[in-house]
Amino acid sequence: MSLTLNIAGKAHTTNAHPGQRLSETLRSLGYKSVKVGCDAGDCGACTVIIDGAQTCACLVPTAQAEGRQIETLENSCHPLRARLAEAFLAHGAAQCGICTPGVMMAALSLLETTPDPSRSHVESALGGVLCRCTGYAKIVEAIMSLAHPKPDAHVPKPGDAVGARIERLDGEPKVQGTEQFGADVGPADALLVRAVRAPHPHANFTLGETAAWATKHGVRVLTAADIQGENRFGVIPPLADQPALAEARTRHLGEAIALVVGPADVVEPLDLADFPVTWSPLDHSLTHHAKNTPIVHDERPENTLIRGRVVSGDADQALTKAAHVVSGTFETAYVEHAYIEPEAGLAWMDGDTLVIEACTQAPVMDQEDTARVLGLPMRHVRIKPTAAGGGFGSKLDISVQPLIGLAALVTGQPCRMVFTRRESMSATTKRHPGTLDACIGADAEGNITAMKVHGDFNTGAYASWGPTVATRVPVHASGPYRTPNYHATSRAIHTNGPTSGAFRGFGVPQAAIAQEQLYDELANACGIDRLEFRRRNALRDGDATPFGQTLASVGLTECLDALKPHWDAALADAASFNANAGPMRRGVGIASCWYGCGNTGLPNPSTIRVGITADGQLRLHQGATDIGQGANTVITQICADALGLPVDQFTLIGPDTALTPDCGKTSASRQTFVTGNAMSLPMWYKRELAGQERVRWFAFNHDNAATGRDDVK
Ligand code: FES
Repeated sequence: MSLTLNIAGKAHTTNAHPGQRLSETLRSLGYKSVKVGCDAGDCGACTVIIDGAQTCACLVPTAQAEGRQIETLENSCHPLRARLAEAFLAHGAAQCGICTPGVMMAALSLLETTPDPSRSHVESALGGVLCRCTGYAKIVEAIMSLAHPKPDAHVPKPGDAVGARIERLDGEPKVQGTEQFGADVGPADALLVRAVRAPHPHANFTLGETAAWATKHGVRVLTAADIQGENRFGVIPPLADQPALAEARTRHLGEAIALVVGPADVVEPLDLADFPVTWSPLDHSLTHHAKNTPIVHDERPENTLIRGRVVSGDADQALTKAAHVVSGTFETAYVEHAYIEPEAGLAWMDGDTLVIEACTQAPVMDQEDTARVLGLPMRHVRIKPTAAGGGFGSKLDISVQPLIGLAALVTGQPCRMVFTRRESMSATTKRHPGTLDACIGADAEGNITAMKVHGDFNTGAYASWGPTVATRVPVHASGPYRTPNYHATSRAIHTNGPTSGAFRGFGVPQAAIAQEQLYDELANACGIDRLEFRRRNALRDGDATPFGQTLASVGLTECLDALKPHWDAALADAASFNANAGPMRRGVGIASCWYGCGNTGLPNPSTIRVGITADGQLRLHQGATDIGQGANTVITQICADALGLPVDQFTLIGPDTALTPDCGKTSASRQTFVTGNAMSLPMWYKRELAGQERVRWFAFNHDNAATGRDDVK
């Protein structure tokens, strides 16, 4: 039975099952602006317009769309579509861009009936579409701006790009619905890969007659026995402990034990519940509080992955002499990154090179990890990042890469994989849950004299970024304040919970929750306003941190001074409101946080290439992944100013491990600072032509591959 869909006035005949989600049918017809984030009507990434109304396409059976008018972003004929796209670019309303098509369709549906919408109209219209990046403010501004004349675009003069508000250079495909994310790449006949996953938090398993099962269903089954390499990955190589496919034992719910590979129409509907495997559940522990818990890794006694420690002065003695001492225990929970784009990608063989096109924050780390797992030389693995629909730390670890890589290696055919939301939640990293015991003392004048803190962190089943959290927390737990006597320790503890990894701050937010709450208590104990208490103790230029770094350009006191009038006004407002309020009360809070950009205690390199083709075209080989934060634009701005040239003269190449040098990972707020600094080298060269540093100018051929270079003194 075939169905006919009317998409923007054009009839499409499809053999899709009548009950198939409309989102899936539209994507199979090539309308890939329809994104799939949850398949549950929660995220709104698949929002289209049906008969004039915004609709989650994942909740509509295809048969119900027959005979109705369907619009997606790429084919919308709405008269305001082009203006809306311009407004989104002008206001910076598209960051990673994965939500943008759904948001824009919701906006167009609103503008159809309400051409001059109020803020509450817009907020209400966007209620069904989630954006994880923007905080909505710029999206709302962009939509509301359509009722007003379009302002002239600001084009910075050569040399003035840094600091200028320019449109993001990679924004156009995001607002046209043509941006390619991990699930959008690959030929229609690419083989589909699905993973068989552990239904227990901790278990031994025995595989059954997998060959017979595969033959019965017309698919390939791949297991750890098919992996020729170490079958271990991890972001800190000496601690690489995570198998791509588990070998006889699983350590967390949802760990992959086998892959099923075959044509999409065969693999998609398979019920993996009858996969031939026998499970023997083991004792498990999901929290770091439990005593006598089962050992997760035999070589790590007491489930301790690593400890961290920073000590300066004598905190114990100083606390005994303090005029005021406060202490407390603080618990934080697992947090899921909840990016709208689940992990996805495509792998294929290009001669003897395995090419992987997938969403990621760290292409070179993916290359290293995939090569290690699969036993390939690095040069035989090429990573081409797709656009990433959010990452927030979790896409620093590999996910689909070794799985689709293995499938492509074994089958020799293009293989793709898209995690379901459930897989994304269970099989990728989370924010570390933590328990922090902290004690802080101050003298009678409100000056901090000492802090003692210990943090235990649930690092889950595998190492991932546990070592970074365990070292970052003692370094940062004092907050950006003078702390002359300091004793901070930490421990990353394995459990059978999901693997904890990187998530915006590597443990620093957990530590700030403890320290800042105790600061409020101390300020109250000292009888000092909470902002003033922080100002009194704020680190200033020339101060040394507890770990011995002398700071410059701190800026915290200036920041607190700028906040002071707003703080006073907010306190007065809250007091006035509360004087006459019913059960509702208003509170006003203040907190500061500090964070070291880049790697902790590790090298932090970035390399950039810029050059000119034989016919005079500027090429910027930019290897930093832009996951929505704007690296493509910011680094080009820095490059343009370094060379005194207009931003729009540069063509961006990459990231791609075959074309671009290593810019490190996109994490820890490092790309603008570290890769930007690499980019400032031509600026230095321009100013110091007689200098001794060697500056490399590369020339590129028309395929954008580096063909040669000159070393210039
Ligand atoms: Fe909205 Fe990234 S721009 S989720």
